[in-house]
Formats: sequence, C-alpha cells, structure tokens
Amino acid sequence: MKQMVPPETFFFFFSFLFLSFHACFPITPETLHTSFTQCFQNHSHHPSIFNLIIPSNTTAYTNFFHSSIKNTRLVMTNTTHTTFKPLFIISPTLKSHVQASVVCAARHGLRLRTMSGGHDYEGLSYISHHDHPFIILNLSKLRSIHIAGDIAWVQAGATLGELYHEIAKKNKSMGFPAGLCPTVGVGGHFSGGGFGTLVRKYGLAADNIIDAHLVDVNGRVLNRETMGEDLFWAIRGGGGASFGVILAYKIKLVEVPPKVTVFTIHRTLSQGATKLVNKWEHIAYELNERLFIRVLFLVKDNIENKGRNNKTIEVLFNSLFLGSREELLPIMEDSFPELGLEANDCKEMRWIKSVLYMAWYPKGTPVSTLLDRNPPRLKNSLKGKSDFVTEHLNEKVWERIWKKVLGGGESLIMILDPFGGRMDDISETETPFPHRKGNMYSIQYLMKWKRIGDEDDKKHVDWLRRFYEFMASYVSKNPRAAYLNYRDLDLGQNQGGGVSYSKSFVWGHKYYKGNFKRLAYVKSLVDPDNFFKHEQSIPPL
Ligand SMILES: Cc1cc2nc3c(=O)[nH]c(=O)nc-3n(C[C@H](O)[C@H](O)[C@H](O)COP(=O)(O)OP(=O)(O)OC[C@H]3O[C@@H](n4cnc5c(N)ncnc54)[C@H](O)[C@@H]3O)c2cc1C
Ligand SMILES: *[C@@H]1O[C@H](CO)[C@@H](O)[C@H](O)[C@H]1NC(C)=O
Ligand SMILES: *[C@@H]1O[C@H](CO)[C@@H](O)[C@H](O)[C@H]1NC(C)=O
Ligand SMILES: *[C@@H]1O[C@H](CO)[C@@H](O)[C@H](O)[C@H]1NC(C)=O
Ligand SMILES: *[C@@H]1O[C@H](CO)[C@@H](O)[C@H](O)[C@H]1NC(C)=O
Ligand SMILES: *[C@@H]1O[C@H](CO)[C@@H](O)[C@H](O)[C@H]1NC(C)=O
Ligand SMILES: *[C@@H]1O[C@H](CO)[C@@H](O)[C@H](O)[C@H]1NC(C)=O
Repeated sequence: MKQMVPPETFFFFFSFLFLSFHACFPITPETLHTSFTQCFQNHSHHPSIFNLIIPSNTTAYTNFFHSSIKNTRLVMTNTTHTTFKPLFIISPTLKSHVQASVVCAARHGLRLRTMSGGHDYEGLSYISHHDHPFIILNLSKLRSIHIAGDIAWVQAGATLGELYHEIAKKNKSMGFPAGLCPTVGVGGHFSGGGFGTLVRKYGLAADNIIDAHLVDVNGRVLNRETMGEDLFWAIRGGGGASFGVILAYKIKLVEVPPKVTVFTIHRTLSQGATKLVNKWEHIAYELNERLFIRVLFLVKDNIENKGRNNKTIEVLFNSLFLGSREELLPIMEDSFPELGLEANDCKEMRWIKSVLYMAWYPKGTPVSTLLDRNPPRLKNSLKGKSDFVTEHLNEKVWERIWKKVLGGGESLIMILDPFGGRMDDISETETPFPHRKGNMYSIQYLMKWKRIGDEDDKKHVDWLRRFYEFMASYVSKNPRAAYLNYRDLDLGQNQGGGVSYSKSFVWGHKYYKGNFKRLAYVKSLVDPDNFFKHEQSIPPL
C-alpha cells in the first residue's frame, strides 16, 4: 500500500500545471497564494480575512485530509488511481467571501469545489479526479436558519439535523420532508432532490423550495426573481455544483401531527422474510400516504447455526406513521396483516424524536444530538449505488437475490424506500428529479468495509459492480435510472482536460432522463465557459 502523497508533492505538481496554464506569466504556489489573498481581500469588502484561507502547509489542512474524511476509499492514491487535493480551503463567514472566492478563483485559473455537509459518496466536494488545480469552499460556517410562520430561510452549510432541531423548537406541529441522516448538508442534499420519511406525503426537499440565493460565475448574488425560472428549476434536483454556489434556500415547512408512531419489525429468511418482502413490494407505494415503511436488508450471522460461519439475510421493516397507534393498527391489519404488527411494536413520540429513531440513535438520545455535526464514527471505506424499481419482482427472484448476496460474503446493505403518494402527483419535468409516477421504490446499495489497502478496496468495489450488473434485469430500464444524491462515478464522468467530455453522458440520462437536455440548456445560459466543472457536472449544450 502506498502512503498518501504529502501536500508538498501536490504543490510541486501543481506548480508545473501553473507553468502550462500561464505560460507567459509563471505563477509559483507562493505568489499564487499572495495574489489570491490580495484579490480575495479586495473583493470580500471586509478588512479581516484572518484564518479564512487555509493553505496546505497548515495543520488545519492536514487534519482535514488525515482525520476528518470518513470514507477511506477516497483518500487513497496510487500510480494508476489518483485523486487530487485542493491548493487551499476557504471557510467563508460572509456571503461576500463566497463572491470573492468565485471571482478570484476564476481570475487565477482555479476551479472550485463547494462543500456543505461533505457527504458526497464520491467525495466530489473535496477531492478531484481531474488534474486541474482547485480550492475548496467550506460552507459550514454559513449555516443560519430563520423561521417565520411556516416559511424558513436556511443557509446551505446547515445540516438536516440543525434544520429539524430549529423547526421543532419553533413549532411542534411543523416538520420538513428531507433525508434521514442528520449530518447531511442542505447545500448538496436539497440541490440533488432529497427524500426521507415524509416523501410519500410531501415529496422531495426540492419540491418544497420556494426561493434561493445563489452566487453565479460572475460573483453576483441572485434570487429566484433575478436568476429566472430556468436556473431556479435547475438547482432543485440538478445538483448545485454545475451552476454556482447556493448560499441559502427558502423553504415551505409542512404540518406534522403532535404525535407520530414508529416501528421496526425484524425478520430473517427462516422467519418468512421473503414472503413479507414480496407483499411489501406490492403495497408499500399504494398505502395511505401518511404511512412510510422502508425495508433494509442486512447480512447477519445465522444464530440458528452459530459458529459455522453461516449467514442469513435479516429484513427490517422500518416505519414512520403520521398519526397515532390507534389509527395505524387497523390500517396495517387491513393492508399488511402478514407482518403481524401489534400495539407493543409501536412507539408514539413527537416528530423530532422520530427523526432520531429513524436515524438509529439509541432510545433516550437527547434531541440536541441533532446539532452534532461530527458525531464519532468509525472510519470505513464506503461505496454506494442506486436503482429504481418499476415492475414487481417475485419470490423466486428475491430468493435468487439472497443467494447472490450470501454467496458474495460481502456485508452489503440494501435500503428500499417506497414512493407513490405525493411523488405520483408531480410530473417528471417539474424539477430535474425525474423518478416520479411509476417508480414503486428506490434501492440504495451500500457497502462498508475496514480499509486494508488498494487491492482489497478494489475487491469489494468490483463485487458491488458485479452485483449491480446482476440486478440489471430486475430494475428500471432505458435508461437504468440512478439517484444523483447517491453519486456513482462508475456511471461515467467528464474528462479532466479542456472541454472534452465522455461522448455519451450515460450518467446524465440515468440521473435526469429527459431533463438532462434542459439542464444543459440552462448551463449554457448561466455558465457557458464551464467554470463550474467537475466529474459529473452538466455540460453546456
Ligand atoms: C449517511 C448518509 C445518509 C444519507 N441519507 C440520505 C437520505 O435519507 N435521503 C437522501 O435523499 N439522500 C441521502 N444521502 C445522500 C445525500 O443526500 C447526498 O450525499 C448529498 O449530496 C449530501 O449533501 P452534502 O451537502 O452533505 O454533501 P457535499 O459533499 O457537501 O455536496 C454534495 C455535492 O453538492 C455540491 N454542493 C454542496 N453544497 C453546495 C452549494 N451550497 N452550492 C452548490 N453546490 C453544492 C458539492 O459540490 C457536491 O457536488 C445520505 C448520505 C449519507 C452519507
Ligand atoms: C505556508 O505557505 C505560505 C504561502 O506559501 C507561507 O506564507 C507561510 O509562511 C507557510 N506557513 C508555514 C507554517 O510553513
Ligand atoms: C483592488 O481593487 C482596486 C479597485 O477597486 C484595484 O485598483 C486594484 O488593482 C485591486 N487589487 C487587486 C489585487 O485586485
Ligand atoms: C491502484 O488503484 C487502482 C484503482 O482502484 C487499482 O486498479 C490498482 O490495482 C491499484 N494499484 C496498486 C498498486 O495498489
Ligand atoms: C469546515 O469548517 C468547519 C467549521 O469551521 C470545520 O470544523 C471543518 O473542519 C472545516 N472543514 C474543512 C475541510 O476545512
Ligand atoms: C404551528 O404549526 C401549525 C401547523 O402548521 C399551525 O397550525 C400553528 O398555527 C402553528 N403555531 C404557531 C404558534 O405558529
Ligand atoms: C445455514 O442456514 C440456512 C437457513 O437457516 C439453512 O437452511 C442451511 O442448512 C444452513 N447451512 C449450513 C451449512 O449450516
């Protein structure tokens, strides 16, 4: 295993790049830093920029790349697989700092990676596979939340946990339909769609956005009116990073009852899980839209065969109902009696408590935990993929899937999120997120392992790729659709140099279907020179 390349090597490497980009005006890293800082100071309308620009020769920088990145798969680098790191990290505290970053990066031939929660599955908010020098814009200090009535302005650097916490503090009868993981950032999540336990009743996070503030390629701050409906459409599911830097979203909060009900039922294969999954698949997307039942498949030791290295699949039916236990039980008895849900499987609680429950926090965890942006986590390598399901499978197929999973010896997790309800009422073109009516549920494939080295990482990733191929005949086709927020570079990527692109843009059609064309049209209007470019950014027409 090769060690991570130290930052100095990157500086050395980048200094050569600069010589080629500015052939008649060679810039060394030192003069670049000085020149950028001057430009930044000039454009940020604020005299003190102390500590805002973190160069790679500082401990703050090294700490980030050595200890903060949780997905260890992304920090590896060897001779055939290289990721590049930023020249420096900027942590704006004012919107004028963001404007200055855009203007000065463009002026110095640097690209920008905007980071809100930093959860991108391929790390595109902080590393690059392109050898173009870049800087990180770390938005975590731009995270204020203002709520008035049922309207909120939330800055991009806030996390979902901070947003949920603030809403519940203001009004116990209000919530917001977004993802389950509290440390996910608003900037990446909302701009890519964003769904969670309220998706069947209220749709995506992006469906509930009513205005936005964005810094464009010229450093201007635009709102819905000044950016126009095309760009406002694009940043509600098309991903923010192709179009500008989103400073804040204005959202419409939704009503939640004072008490909600949650439950989780565990069943292994020998306890009849296959039949239950088969039934779930036929009803979950058609249930009362206040009822959300997601399904998780985990590979577990088979306790009936302890010590013989025998594994089984454990299926979790993990649910939130917007109402009381008394209302829920007859609905379940009517639509899903096979699950055998009983009153003592159900817990009633405030909506904000259900947020902790659905994120697997242990019972009794205080609500203030939602404010923890960096809960202690084990460092693992991680790879995700996604699918949408449009036609029913059957028990034979599920059995084939279990066999494949158990035969692989990998700790794959599959998460099935039901759609239907509100999702069916919104047309495919309303936002760039096209996976609406006809999609019964989404699948997320998630693999985590303890990193040993590149070869071992490759083994796990290759297995997941083969499993994904195996699943092809059971999921959506033409295109085989994928969810932008479960980013997957296996689907294809833009080339690094100049303006060359992969010819087919397969990934664009998978993420956006017919909306890809309109996104490319918007891109050519707002960023024709492609300053906001990354591995899967929208190309101008
Ligand atoms: C543990 C976990 C649980 C998850 N659960 C869910 C879930 O329940 N539902 C769901 O829908 N998704 C879920 N996701 C996926 C998540 O929605 C995406 O990873 C999302 O993009 C993360 O946003 P971020 O701001 O944290 O990430 P970042 O890495 O900061 O950003 C992601 C992308 O958006 C860009 N971006 C970020 N901020 C801005 C901005 N202000 N302006 C312009 N571009 C920006 C970045 O450059 C990058 O390309 C989960 C992910 C994880 C890791
Ligand atoms: C880091 O680099 C900058 C700019 O190149 C320089 O001014 C500074 O002295 C360096 N700091 C350390 C701690 O080496
Ligand atoms: C700063 O701005 C002034 C005008 O506002 C300009 O004359 C000067 O050249 C700028 N300096 C830098 C380093 O951009
Ligand atoms: C480097 O990484 C690539 C991509 O994962 C892999 O194919 C290759 O085997 C690795 N090489 C070494 C020497 O580890
Ligand atoms: C981003 O800023 C936050 C808050 O200042 C800090 O905790 C975090 O380490 C920073 N991340 C990077 C990559 O600089
Ligand atoms: C709280 O929210 C509910 C539902 O949206 C609303 O009816 C009520 O008026 C709100 N209460 C306050 C004090 O704002
Ligand atoms: C493993 O467990 C399954 C399901 O319980 C059982 O059918 C099978 O016989 C067991 N295999 C071994 C080798 O113990």
